[in-house]
Amino acid sequence: RFQRRIRACRYDIDQFTPNFLSIFDSLVPSEEEIAKQNQLLAALSRLINKEWPNSKLYLYGSCANSFGFSNSDIDLCLSIDDKEMSKVDIILKLAEILQAGNLQNIQALTRARVPIVKLMDQVTGLSCDICVNNLLAVVNTKLLRDYAQIDRRLQQLAFIVKHWAKSRRVNETYQGTLSSYAYVIMCIHLLQLRRILPCLQEMDATCNVTVDDNHCTYFDQVDKLKNYGAHNKETVSSLLWAFFHYWAYQHDYMQDVISIRTGRIISKHMKDWTRRVGNDRHLICIEDPFETSHDLGRVVDKFSIKILREEFERAANILQYDANPSVTLFEPYVP
Ligand code: CTP
Ligand code: MG
Repeated sequence: RFQRRIRACRYDIDQFTPNFLSIFDSLVPSEEEIAKQNQLLAALSRLINKEWPNSKLYLYGSCANSFGFSNSDIDLCLSIDDKEMSKVDIILKLAEILQAGNLQNIQALTRARVPIVKLMDQVTGLSCDICVNNLLAVVNTKLLRDYAQIDRRLQQLAFIVKHWAKSRRVNETYQGTLSSYAYVIMCIHLLQLRRILPCLQEMDATCNVTVDDNHCTYFDQVDKLKNYGAHNKETVSSLLWAFFHYWAYQHDYMQDVISIRTGRIISKHMKDWTRRVGNDRHLICIEDPFETSHDLGRVVDKFSIKILREEFERAANILQYDANPSVTLFEPYVP
């Protein structure tokens, strides 16, 4: 079934750029909303620090990585060094602290794969999930945010791809499709290949943290890289076209792994990702930048890979031929 098809981009693709950019603008959170998030972070930190003075609360995920839509839930991570208590004990205790601090709708989910406390804050109206000691997520959040500082087109492209994935229901990891985190990595990779973004992990390290045996090092002085991609004049519409053509017709699903750690495509063979091991099927391979044994495509199974590839093809064809791609692309999926 697989055919590599190199198609030339339609000549009039750029006429759709204003439409795509106005979709982007409509999804970006307002200053006011960001202020509310920080207000909640400050209030919760105050409360938790009273009990655990050496703990620290971090924002991570979409509210901190510059790829968050307006009105999304916020992800928080409590970093705490307590050898006496298990993660579940910490979660239960955290729920108690929040309860005593007059927060409402608190739920401790201790049996989830990642145990969390959920809450809805009445003051700001925000919902949030708090996990414990997931520092790798805090570090990869910073990496994504740093990439977003370099070239505005990353944020634009990733917002539109995420919006497409949510409309088409291929952003549901429990159904075997990809996480938002994976889609952002796919966008970074495309822009690295087009020399719009550098590969920060291949440059001299200015940021250096070790989290559970993973050495996370990269160049994080991104204000020095603001002109990195300036020679490339592609618009967000042609990058969107390139993104979907790559995943529909050019990516070699049999052999290749995309890797933003190296800024290149590497081989499945080299990573020993050529066959199914346990639940990891490696049908679409996206290397995590820091936890390099982690394939972000591991949630994808033999049914969902078909759905995903059909959606990539649909999107590629809409961008190539449709009269109104900025509308048709996001038409809701109807089963
Ligand atoms: N994460 C991770 N490994 C994964 C998936 C997620 O480390 N396989 C971490 C990342 O730090 C990511 C965060 O969890 O930023 C949240 O992931 P996700 O919900 O996929 O992304 P969001 O950016 O929060 O997107 P959304 O707007 O869809 O909530
Ligand atoms: Mg999220």
